[in-house]
Amino acid sequence: MLATFLVAVALACAPQVQAYAFPDCVNGPLANTTVCNTSASPSARAKALIAMFTTSDLISNTVNSSPGVARLGLPAYNWWSEALHGVAGSPGVSFAPSGDFSFATSFPEPILMGAAFDDEMIKAIATVISTEMRAFNNAGRAGLDAFTPNINPFRDPRWGRGQETPGEDPFHISQYVFNLIQGLQGGIDPPLFKLVADCKHFAGYDLENWMGNNRMSFNAIISQQDLAEFYLPMFQTCVRDAKVGSVMCSYNAVNGVPSCADTFLLQTILRDFWGFDDDRWVTSDCDAIANFIDHKFSPDLPHAAATGINAGTDIDCGSTYGNNLAAAVSLGLVNVSSIARAVTRQYTSLIRLGYFDPPASQPFRQLKFSDVNTPNAQQLAYEIAVEGIVLLKNDGTLPLSKSIKKLAFIGPWANATTQMQGNYQGTAPFLISPFAASQEAGFTSTFTPGTKINSADTTGFAAAIAAAKAADAIVFGGGIDDSIEAEGMDRNTIVWPGNQLDLVGQLAALGKPLVVLQFGGGQVDSSALKSNSTVNALLWGGYPGQSGGTAVMDILIGKVSPAGRLPTTQYPANYVNEVPMTDMSVRPSSTNPGRTYKWFTGTPVFEFGTGLSFTTFSLAFTGSPKASYNIQTLVAAGASAAHLDLAPFATFSVSVHNTGKVASDFVSLLFMNTTAGPSPFPKKELVSYVRTKNVGAGQTATANLPVTLGAIARVGDDGSASLYPGDYTLLLDVPTAVTFHFSLTGTQAQITNWPAAS
Ligand SMILES: *[C@@H]1O[C@H](CO)[C@@H](O)[C@H](O)[C@H]1NC(C)=O
Ligand SMILES: *[C@@H]1O[C@H](CO)[C@@H](O)[C@H](O)[C@H]1NC(C)=O
Ligand SMILES: *[C@@H]1O[C@H](CO)[C@@H](O)[C@H](O)[C@H]1NC(C)=O
Ligand SMILES: *[C@@H]1O[C@H](CO)[C@@H](O)[C@H](O)[C@H]1NC(C)=O
Ligand SMILES: *[C@@H]1O[C@H](CO)[C@@H](O)[C@H](O)[C@H]1NC(C)=O
Ligand SMILES: *[C@@H]1O[C@H](CO)[C@@H](O)[C@H](O)[C@H]1NC(C)=O
Repeated sequence: MLATFLVAVALACAPQVQAYAFPDCVNGPLANTTVCNTSASPSARAKALIAMFTTSDLISNTVNSSPGVARLGLPAYNWWSEALHGVAGSPGVSFAPSGDFSFATSFPEPILMGAAFDDEMIKAIATVISTEMRAFNNAGRAGLDAFTPNINPFRDPRWGRGQETPGEDPFHISQYVFNLIQGLQGGIDPPLFKLVADCKHFAGYDLENWMGNNRMSFNAIISQQDLAEFYLPMFQTCVRDAKVGSVMCSYNAVNGVPSCADTFLLQTILRDFWGFDDDRWVTSDCDAIANFIDHKFSPDLPHAAATGINAGTDIDCGSTYGNNLAAAVSLGLVNVSSIARAVTRQYTSLIRLGYFDPPASQPFRQLKFSDVNTPNAQQLAYEIAVEGIVLLKNDGTLPLSKSIKKLAFIGPWANATTQMQGNYQGTAPFLISPFAASQEAGFTSTFTPGTKINSADTTGFAAAIAAAKAADAIVFGGGIDDSIEAEGMDRNTIVWPGNQLDLVGQLAALGKPLVVLQFGGGQVDSSALKSNSTVNALLWGGYPGQSGGTAVMDILIGKVSPAGRLPTTQYPANYVNEVPMTDMSVRPSSTNPGRTYKWFTGTPVFEFGTGLSFTTFSLAFTGSPKASYNIQTLVAAGASAAHLDLAPFATFSVSVHNTGKVASDFVSLLFMNTTAGPSPFPKKELVSYVRTKNVGAGQTATANLPVTLGAIARVGDDGSASLYPGDYTLLLDVPTAVTFHFSLTGTQAQITNWPAAS
């Protein structure tokens, strides 16, 4: 009786939401029409469907919240689902209030996943995310596409959304996204897509709201050289090589044209140069069509709508198309055939997702809630957090001595739960804070916040110090979080906010072992902690996701050796006074100290690629690599590659010898520098990396580091890349542990042909 009553209440509270449905190709009005014919080509099927649309049907289906066409039995579909680091809350996703589908695996933010430098792992995690999205979709709770990933390079430490990206290096982001897209979509251009991913924000988007410069109206001035070399390589990989199903154009303008109106970006680069075909669609960022008005680019909304469609923005995430295209057609600003082109691309994409196909023949349509948050998914969420956490400083205090039994957890992150998810998050199945994990690990722990993220109030200090005095060791968890860095909110300073460092200073004076955990996606200047000998260890943990606390604790106690590497530069605090955020150029000038590890002329607090271990490694190049290569021979040998920039240059083998006492993963980072080609010259550039797992104490592993022609080419003023004769140095590890010199002989050879800006 009681049991029956509880079930009834649960059902009443959690009604099955059927926000998504599939067209009925057996008994519905579309049955026996070509769109339901699985033997016909996706484009023929989409054209046949669109031929049944009236102009009004076309217009109403140009927006993210598409009504479908009831007359045809075509259901509504919302294009706006999110899945940045797990199925995420968004207009197209609905979590149940309790029970089945009330949660999904919550992985760390990409900034921490990037720090793992583990591409296989990224593919495995993306495979879990697409599986969980499909399970949600089968229950009507998520779409078949997701507005993810965010791959704008993390150019400036002030950016509020850097946490969503894998870091600052274009080569690294490209490798990451190549693997991520395969996991999300189910392979490279598979016959049946598992999910359609969306590479965003195209292009030059990395400013929210800085000193009155708002993303909605910001005009990013970017040279073709910086576009080709810094801002767009990861989009090229995503589109051309990983064959993503969609791209999102951004709020900002590039060189005077709003991205979603820019035919150079959307046609010349995206479709003509990279081969983004009509099976794929471009969506605007949400309300980016309406913001043509903010840019003073369009006089009114009908003009904005027409300009967006004509430029190739196929979906308006918003309502501008839906409300204004009819007027735009009447005014002769846009042809119905252009609207039909946009809608045809959308439905071709849905056809390739199996939307109109029999469910029985599709394994993805069988996925259910039992496929969500599986033991494998939980293990991956834990492992990637462990792999990404970066040890920045350690005087031998870590791993914690076995004699330490009582830990005082202090600080605004020490008992973090939802904070660990960062932004674009879903509901996690559980969230294990550092404090909770310490108790699970058998410590007698206390938690005393002491202070908040950004507060001048010191009334909590006394309790924190008392707790610290009563403990064997102190763990301070702080840094920044989404109250300081967020969508719509850049930082003006990169110092530790509020009085956190004052409290750390008072804790440091107690003379007990003190470990500082620095969280957040953007870096804060930790030079005071780096130089203070009473701060014994410093770790950076990004936003570590559902098992973040366990991951941190397992490193603190030495269950695992850390091997993550910083995916961004940690700049000194004064950096923000040396260059305005609005200066998009990456090369140094009289008003810009240069951006990222490649170009920054100052001294970073912690360099890109920094990351300590509990063991020591000895590295050496093995296999006698060639020291001289002829450019013309390389180019001739590369002729059979799909693209010359992807053709192999050489694979360098490195012996990774663990000379210490504990097993550890090791990330081999291989850089190159040269004074060949156009000046100025970057300090160095990442050309290859690999994570070698679990190298035992005393063991030697071999890391193979493939390098492509594109990685050693240099980009000229016009955006085209060439191989240049001259001397080159390979630099292994950070700080550089070993170098290898080689030369390129022959004559300069252009290997990419960047299109001229119109
Ligand atoms: C589809 O065609 C089959 C075979 O001609 C017919 O039996 C069936 O009724 C048709 N279905 C609909 C919904 O028109
Ligand atoms: C389905 O499409 C194929 C390929 O175009 C075609 O040969 C076949 O006749 C179509 N079937 C029907 C029932 O129209
Ligand atoms: C509409 O199509 C006609 C005929 O192809 C063409 O001349 C005209 O330029 C088009 N108008 C717009 C706004 O694209
Ligand atoms: C730690 O956080 C959890 C979850 O928010 C909360 O329930 C618990 O009371 C906190 N612990 C302390 C000691 O504040
Ligand atoms: C460095 O440590 C000393 C105590 O040894 C302390 O007085 C000072 O405030 C500390 N500074 C920081 C930034 O932790
Ligand atoms: C390359 O890097 C090494 C190590 O930092 C440095 O000594 C050398 O001068 C650099 N060479 C060039 C050409 O930049």
